[in-house]
Amino acid sequence: MSNPLFQQHIISISDLTRAQLELIITTAEQLKHAAKHDALKNKVIASCFFEPSTRTRLSFETAIQRLGGTVIGFDSGTNTSLGKKGETLSDSIRIISSYADAVIIRHPKEGAARLASEFSSVPIINGGDGSNQHPTQTLLDLFSIYECQQRLDNLNIAFVGDLKYGRTVHSLAQALSLFNCQFQFLSPSALAMPDYILAELNERHVNFQTCNNFEEIIPQADIIYMTRVQKERFDETEYQHIAAKYILGKAQLTNPKSNMKILHPLPRVDEIDVAVDETRYAYYFEQAKNGVYAREALLSLVLNQSLVKG
Ligand code: CP
Repeated sequence: MSNPLFQQHIISISDLTRAQLELIITTAEQLKHAAKHDALKNKVIASCFFEPSTRTRLSFETAIQRLGGTVIGFDSGTNTSLGKKGETLSDSIRIISSYADAVIIRHPKEGAARLASEFSSVPIINGGDGSNQHPTQTLLDLFSIYECQQRLDNLNIAFVGDLKYGRTVHSLAQALSLFNCQFQFLSPSALAMPDYILAELNERHVNFQTCNNFEEIIPQADIIYMTRVQKERFDETEYQHIAAKYILGKAQLTNPKSNMKILHPLPRVDEIDVAVDETRYAYYFEQAKNGVYAREALLSLVLNQSLVKG
């Protein structure tokens, strides 16, 4: 069977079909349970982070090393010729892509990964561009949902928190719209899901509703996807007011379904009380761990023509 992801840029989750998403999830599942594999042997991958990261960068770098590849790169643009000497992103990418077999980029500006793909001679993988997209987070989110629910179709997914600036919820809602899921949105009104995402959901006939409190979402949710309010977008007083609005504690967990799980892309500030960590509903640390397997799967598929064997 041919591999449709071979040598593909991964810029937006919307560029991937349902079959491609399922292929990545199946491959991640195989890799999570495989004893040893060297799918990235002799591959050099550039990890270019112009914005802070803990999980995305380190799970990518772990994935590369676990699969026998080598990482080059930087964790801040400051000490690059782009940061210090005014080199353009397009020139930087032309050069970096001549050194590596694939380039992972995180950048604060929306559209930076798409721009990079126009100047790169090798696949570009978007590790997050501003408040736009975070497709590899969505891959690990989908893998985690599949792992804890044993399916992706016909689930009730509640998105809570900063639905405006949180790029992970944009990518995840777009991906799950391919799986006949129903969505509930719970956010401060100033942080509601952007109109362009709602328009896409309407076009795809996705059933969604806006909710006002946890009581409305918890009894029916299969997944509660919590997000951090992006502090960097507000002044301190406004942030305190908005951030305090939807905090999930044990007290809110009344009458959940027995299969319900709580996800969060992390980092968490205080939107999930630490007491929730010890409940059977918390799945966010396993979700973060799954970042390694989802990224192993993606890199294996992008850099190998034949499909990875389990
Ligand atoms: N979830 C996520 O993208 O985390 P980092 O910002 O730490 O990479």
